[in-house]
Amino acid sequence: MKLRTISELLSQDFVSSEVDIKGWVRTFRANRFIALNDGSTINNIQCVVDFETFDEALLKRITTGAAIHIKGDLVESQGKGQNVEIQVKELKVLGDSDPETYPIQPKKHSFEFLRENAHLRTRTNTFSAVMRLRSSLSFAIHKYFNENGFYYVHTPIITGSDAEGAGEMFRVTNLNAEKPPLNQEGDVDYSKDFFGKETNLTVSGQLEAETYAMSLGKVYTFGPTFRAENSNTSRHLAEFWMIEPEVAFMDLAGNMDLAEDFMKFVIKYILKNNHEDLEFLDARLQDEDKAKPQAERNEMTLIEKLHFVTENNFKRVSYTEAIDILRDSTPNKKKKFKYIIKDWGTDLQSEHERFLVEKHFKCPVILFDYPANIKAFYMRLNDDGKTVRAMDILFPGIGEIVGGAQREERLEVLKQRMAAINIPEEDLWWYLDLRKFGTAVHAGFGLGFERLVMFATGMSNIRDVIPFPRTPQNAEF
Ligand code: 4AD
Ligand code: MG
Repeated sequence: MKLRTISELLSQDFVSSEVDIKGWVRTFRANRFIALNDGSTINNIQCVVDFETFDEALLKRITTGAAIHIKGDLVESQGKGQNVEIQVKELKVLGDSDPETYPIQPKKHSFEFLRENAHLRTRTNTFSAVMRLRSSLSFAIHKYFNENGFYYVHTPIITGSDAEGAGEMFRVTNLNAEKPPLNQEGDVDYSKDFFGKETNLTVSGQLEAETYAMSLGKVYTFGPTFRAENSNTSRHLAEFWMIEPEVAFMDLAGNMDLAEDFMKFVIKYILKNNHEDLEFLDARLQDEDKAKPQAERNEMTLIEKLHFVTENNFKRVSYTEAIDILRDSTPNKKKKFKYIIKDWGTDLQSEHERFLVEKHFKCPVILFDYPANIKAFYMRLNDDGKTVRAMDILFPGIGEIVGGAQREERLEVLKQRMAAINIPEEDLWWYLDLRKFGTAVHAGFGLGFERLVMFATGMSNIRDVIPFPRTPQNAEF
């Protein structure tokens, strides 16, 4: 007999056949009904034991969290709440679980508590649903690019360059931390380090991806990125995953079209393929909403919000227009914003982004043409000499989810931009080479994967959408 998953048993017709199944006990009721889950679906299967035919000592070992093996007949259920159930004929406990100390009791746990038990939290409905969705989204991302002629590039994790020029990097070294070799000036001598120079964990695969776009045409990276920014917020991680497409001969308008089409595709994919998990998370969110005051409740359910994104155009607005809207907005005039918008040129904070998306436009927004001095050096300078062809996509409940740009393809302009912020040309000689040998218009963007998973699952803390979050002062597991 083939071992089946619960998902198979519930979705295909195995009624009146003998089945073989393994999983973990969620609950055991009335010494008779086992709710079993194996991770293949949010649904448990009910296994009915006739306590007279089984040893009492064996039944005692069927506790929440135990791993068990069951053989029996799949039959139409007598009771309410499920269509089918298993009449148990053989039962083996594969691994006991101490009911006194098992952290995941069949009751509601706080997310904080579950974060401390991240090694067991996927045994709950919420976290198993979130992580199945994470897996589906990542598959959908590869599917989209694969079907649209993109090549998948594995850009390096260890790098000598700071792509974003923000200096928020984790150093990679094998020098002796207590007694590092020093040079004549008394500074640490990195020429003695493993790579013969200072290296870091990458903050973005973009610069390397650009080299591949300028030969393979359409490429993307999808890998872990690392930022040592000390921001302990619900939207920042020190280790997160980023999707970065990069396309030759594409300008900013093409970049916006690509990002919008791509995001709609992956959301449609989960609406089609992860319905049960989404329904569960949707109900969870509605439940959570009931406890909130009216004003703080979500205007749309999770599934409505996902449909809304797939069915409506993203609103495209220039930075300059956005500043005008914000300057005239009620929260700005009434000084409700923490950072008051006064002049053109100030960077937007997440409160401003969320105002634009959630209160003003009430739909996803693409902001473009930002002031050059608040954006990275590689973005293409506009003819006005003060803005660059940058774009950020802002989502309801999330704020910035995508950051991208058309890249500066003119050698001289790029050199000037680098000089202005003291990036030595020697450090990025290979990046400058792209502008010497067959330079061309090109563009790309970075999508923060965890922010997408937050949006898709309705989870409000980024720590709850990645298996083992890395944040300041925390790298457990
Ligand atoms: O806007 P960012 O910094 O852009 C880049 O890194 C570009 N090189 C991307 C490109 O054009 N290829 O980051 C891109 C996205 C952000 O919009 C956000 O969604 C996410 O990455 N992100 C983070 N997600 C979680 N934790 C953090 N600390 C993040 N920092 C950025
Ligand atoms: Mg950004």
